[in-house]
Amino acid sequence: MIYDFLHRPRRLRMNARIRDMVRETHLRLDDLIYPMFVTYKKGAKTPIASMPNCFQWGIDRIAEECRRIEDLGIPAVILFGIPEQKDAEGTQAYAEDGIIPQAIHAIKKACATLVVMTDVCLCEYTSHGHCGVLKGECILNDESVELLCKEALAHARAGSDVIAPSDMMDGRVEAIRETLDEEGFEYTPILAYSVKYASGYYGPFRDAAESAPAFGDRRSHQMDPPNRLEALRQAELDDAAGADILMVKPALPYLDILRDLRNELNVPLAAYNVSGEYSMVKAAAEKGWIDERRVVMENLIAIKRAGADMILTYHAPDVAIWLQENG
Ligand code: PBG
Ligand code: ZN
Repeated sequence: MIYDFLHRPRRLRMNARIRDMVRETHLRLDDLIYPMFVTYKKGAKTPIASMPNCFQWGIDRIAEECRRIEDLGIPAVILFGIPEQKDAEGTQAYAEDGIIPQAIHAIKKACATLVVMTDVCLCEYTSHGHCGVLKGECILNDESVELLCKEALAHARAGSDVIAPSDMMDGRVEAIRETLDEEGFEYTPILAYSVKYASGYYGPFRDAAESAPAFGDRRSHQMDPPNRLEALRQAELDDAAGADILMVKPALPYLDILRDLRNELNVPLAAYNVSGEYSMVKAAAEKGWIDERRVVMENLIAIKRAGADMILTYHAPDVAIWLQENG
């Protein structure tokens, strides 16, 4: 029996050159942002047990690592600080000579073109590990926003290229924009963690950043995982408040949300391939149960296909090497 099929999609899958020609989505070096942890501990390159190949870097060592990142062709890093002292108001978060300002100075001296983004939140700096100031067990919104504005300003003054608030307090994008503008930083962009879910996937990060809450959880400000329309509403609010880039976080369990935002909004979108997503891949790869390179590239292309313009990922240095080796 000889068939006469008109449509044979396999025609365009028969060899690598043709597959390349019809490929719809690409992952580029320019899409990557590498998250890094800075500690006050001198000379530190402290491994993070739950995140293989990630480290807490001492202020005196982070610049050399950033040089390596820049040399790999990765355009940007985002910094998280681990201060020496924590207190109820997170004072070190907005100290002008705090850990992040010091790290920015060191990195800017060593790296000519690297984009240095800084995470703005209080949970790494408060003794109780919450993202704002407390009254009893309640996180006070407006009082916390005031401190976040001071933190954003301290980062901008030190030379941060992009301010990235991750706290999820109401009104913080508007307030930070106003503060930056008043102080002459009207050209410093804001990357807003707009759609940040209360997720179990942040577990390893809280070890890395030493920011686990002492009691309770983050459900009073981070989003409830079952909600989809609320994500769009939250994103629209941040867009209207002047955020330059909006983020969805985590990435892989929320690809539907990324696609919703892509379809509805005309702003650049970032996705955070978070610590738990990273650790799961690393753990399975260590056991020899998956092919790490293949799975990482598949995960990241899925995030781009869903609509992300850029991806924050701990895999960035590996991916940079793989991309240079061609795919
Ligand atoms: C701080 C912050 C968190 C992450 C980024 N910024 C943790 C949290 O909200 O508890 C998570 C990043 C990751 O898991 O890789 N607010
Ligand atoms: Zn926080």
